[in-house]
Amino acid sequence: MLKSFLRQYWLTGAATIAVVASAAYYVAIGEPDNFQNVKKSKNKSRNKLAGLVNEGNTCFINTTLQALASCPIFIWWIDSILEKPSSDAAGNCLETTSSLNLTMAVINNQHPTISADLFNTRQLIQSLEKHGWNLKSEEQDAHEFFNMLFTTIDEEINKKSKIVKGISIDDEQDTTTVCQSISSSPFRGNLASQLCCLTCGHKSVRYDAFECLSIPLPKLDMRNAFTMLNVQGLLKQFLAAETVGEVQCDNCSVTNGKIVFMKQLSLGKLPQCLCLHIQRCDWTNAGQLTKRQDLVKFSEELNVGNVVYTNRLSGNLKPVTYRLRAVVEHLGMADSGHFVTFRRNAVDGRAKWFYTSDTYIRTATLEEVLKSSPYMLFYERCA
Ligand SMILES: *[C@@H]1O[C@H](CO)[C@@H](O)[C@H](O)[C@H]1NC(C)=O
Ligand SMILES: *[C@@H]1O[C@H](CO)[C@@H](O)[C@H](O)[C@H]1NC(C)=O
Ligand SMILES: *[C@@H]1O[C@H](CO)[C@@H](O)[C@H](O)[C@H]1NC(C)=O
Ligand SMILES: *[C@@H]1O[C@H](CO)[C@@H](O)[C@H](O)[C@H]1NC(C)=O
Ligand SMILES: [Zn+2]
Repeated sequence: MLKSFLRQYWLTGAATIAVVASAAYYVAIGEPDNFQNVKKSKNKSRNKLAGLVNEGNTCFINTTLQALASCPIFIWWIDSILEKPSSDAAGNCLETTSSLNLTMAVINNQHPTISADLFNTRQLIQSLEKHGWNLKSEEQDAHEFFNMLFTTIDEEINKKSKIVKGISIDDEQDTTTVCQSISSSPFRGNLASQLCCLTCGHKSVRYDAFECLSIPLPKLDMRNAFTMLNVQGLLKQFLAAETVGEVQCDNCSVTNGKIVFMKQLSLGKLPQCLCLHIQRCDWTNAGQLTKRQDLVKFSEELNVGNVVYTNRLSGNLKPVTYRLRAVVEHLGMADSGHFVTFRRNAVDGRAKWFYTSDTYIRTATLEEVLKSSPYMLFYERCA
């Protein structure tokens, strides 16, 4: 059934596999005896595709929210957007951001009065719909929801800045303070794309912002069907030099017809929170959409030093370390899947892991987390 779901998904022209679905859940932060709060039910929708199609949207949302709720820097950032002094008008345009702030507090069990089992994400969904997103369509997944959320928060910050600017015209200085103090998302990084003309050696660099890196898996190949993949290797491959043609060289295009460039992607600006999306959507030779089951190993600490632009320029590959906060995993085959999330506790200093599957929540060990098969990985930069 998922196959037909995916086919339909493809027909809608969406770009990525709709993978993440019926995982989502409330984490009662703290000791295991707090867990009695957690609603146990929803057994029925588990592993059932009808559930995925009908309720998939809230599942994508819940999955992403759980992962985001495990990133303290993100939670701090959301709160900081809301905290800046502003008028009512400026505050009113932050509906998604404030729903998100509330949601983070509730699912982290930090809200003084609202507990997770009495809470729903309707307000958040409605605020996104006001921004023109259609959350009722079937073709979204956690990765798309992630992008949707960050686009919307950006829109809200921009709107707020405009309102604030308009209102405090006579107080220039105050305006600048307010506007500058909203920093960009901690997930925002830059990819540096360097092009080097192989004919004349002319170099140019372009920077593109990202909130999440979407990493392809290597082409399926019978000769290396059993290659052990790991996230570090995939990143390195994604950010490896490749030759490209059909690009105009500013320096020598006039004199040379056929120009080949060496293109190299690197991490230009490093984000504080690094989100990686593994592209598990693939096509068989027969044109059928399948899910790539490749085992992708990852570790609690991720060193990206070898793909940092300035490191590559200087030849000094000093380490840049990130620590794992959450993993979104898809279990099962393409036609019968289930989704779970592993996440860290954001509010408790102890390195405690939780396994969340539907509304079921229990503690997990790091060993178990590292054995999961990642669809999305959430890392936070070490100080
Ligand atoms: C959940 O499933 C288990 C076994 O599949 C069953 O024993 C239990 O009664 C179910 N709970 C609910 C609330 O349906
Ligand atoms: C955002 O959530 C935090 C709790 O995580 C809360 O202390 C704060 O008051 C909230 N901010 C706003 C503006 O509601
Ligand atoms: C997702 O969370 C909402 C509440 O925020 C809840 O109503 C819904 O049942 C959850 N979905 C799943 C599949 O657990
Ligand atoms: C431009 O091309 C010429 C040769 O055509 C080369 O000598 C020169 O170094 C190039 N300039 C730059 C800036 O790459
Ligand atoms: Zn050239």
